[in-house]
Amino acid sequence: MSNRPLNVGLVGGGKGAFIVHPHQRAIHFDGTRRVTAAALFPDPKVALEEAANWPYPIKGYGSYDEMIAAQASLPASEKLDYILIVTPNFVHFDPAVKALKAGIPVFCEKPLTVTLDEAKQLVDTVKQLKIPFAVSHTYLGHWTSRLARYIVRSGLLGEVRWVDSYYIQGWLATKFEDTGNQQASWRVDPKKAGGSGCGGDIGTHALMQLRFVTGLEVSEVSANLEIFVKGRSIDDHFTAYCHLNNGARALVRASQISIGHKNDLGIEINGTKGTLRWRQEEPESIIIHQLGQPDRVYWRGAVTPGDGFLPKDMPADLLAEPNIPAGHPEAFHDAFARLHRCFEVDVRKYLAGQPFACDGSKYANVEDGWTGMAFIQACIQSNSQKGAWTAMPSLK
Ligand SMILES: NC(=O)c1ccc[n+]([C@@H]2O[C@H](COP(=O)([O-])OP(=O)(O)OC[C@H]3O[C@@H](n4cnc5c(N)ncnc54)[C@H](O)[C@@H]3O)[C@@H](O)[C@H]2O)c1
Repeated sequence: MSNRPLNVGLVGGGKGAFIVHPHQRAIHFDGTRRVTAAALFPDPKVALEEAANWPYPIKGYGSYDEMIAAQASLPASEKLDYILIVTPNFVHFDPAVKALKAGIPVFCEKPLTVTLDEAKQLVDTVKQLKIPFAVSHTYLGHWTSRLARYIVRSGLLGEVRWVDSYYIQGWLATKFEDTGNQQASWRVDPKKAGGSGCGGDIGTHALMQLRFVTGLEVSEVSANLEIFVKGRSIDDHFTAYCHLNNGARALVRASQISIGHKNDLGIEINGTKGTLRWRQEEPESIIIHQLGQPDRVYWRGAVTPGDGFLPKDMPADLLAEPNIPAGHPEAFHDAFARLHRCFEVDVRKYLAGQPFACDGSKYANVEDGWTGMAFIQACIQSNSQKGAWTAMPSLK
């Protein structure tokens, strides 16, 4: 394949949609990917109008079925190289499975699906057809998440004992859905969001951050899914006490009723030799605490291997990755761009018929998406038995 920019098709994103916009900026970030087509809305007429009014020229389709079917007869240079699914949770599975069956790589929003069964079907389809698949766990894309992963997985904190991984918000502290807010309305509807509201929406991010950084897996959970705002039928506050597979313990918690908290996602890891703290609202740095030593603050793009904590032989690709100098702050959009950039590498290999990684080390893959759904299912089951310890389902 030539070095032309990759063609990306959007599923969802019309009429006041939210997350499509950070994504489409991230797609265009490097000049090597571009949005060329979209099925932006469930009503075909509106979908076409929205596409015609998109801020740059794209080919509009009345539905994602039409967009996927059209690919078969297009010349290679015009075919979609991947699709991005930015619809509410209940419209992830169908376009994803159809795109995969048409041989098109998929970048899908989280949580992967609304049921574990659908998630399993996606895992099986991806395995069978060997197609790149990304799940949009945004915060893995911060360079500091990659540094945290390196620090913890290299054993620099010793054995992990305790992890507190959290995502705290306050925007659903009142019945915001009754104001007609589009994003709130479907998030509190179990048919559209899934069996857990807050847990599925943002608890899955906290879980993914824990797994990505530590390399540890949750083996069992004792969970409480609580509803603080009257009239809701799914949780707006979510707490899972977890046993991890190395014997460590963890709290994976999320809230949408904690007034004052905006997008307060963070992680604290306590090991036998030290502690790491990171918050996505201040994503440029990591704090390390060691007994009897002054605290260390590591800034993106300004770490020195062999400094007495970080070893001399840090991976060259990790050190090379920051693309603007330290002190020019990166944030949310850069994290999305890093995920799309890494996905592009795998998509280009796939299109060239070469082996590709898609191994979860640069962005969440379909198995990670399945694990998020397995975690939610185990937490729902535990909650229904008053927090009884419940084993995580197995993918095998
Ligand atoms: N990764 C993150 O940080 C992050 C942040 C916010 C949302 N999300 C996820 O992104 C997804 C979308 O969330 P949002 O807040 O942007 O929702 P939204 O309501 O703002 O946008 C959803 C879009 O999908 C469209 N849509 C719905 N059904 C469709 C269909 N059948 N065909 C075509 N378009 C259709 C809607 O018209 C709308 O344009 C959700 O799964 C959510 O969990 C992820």
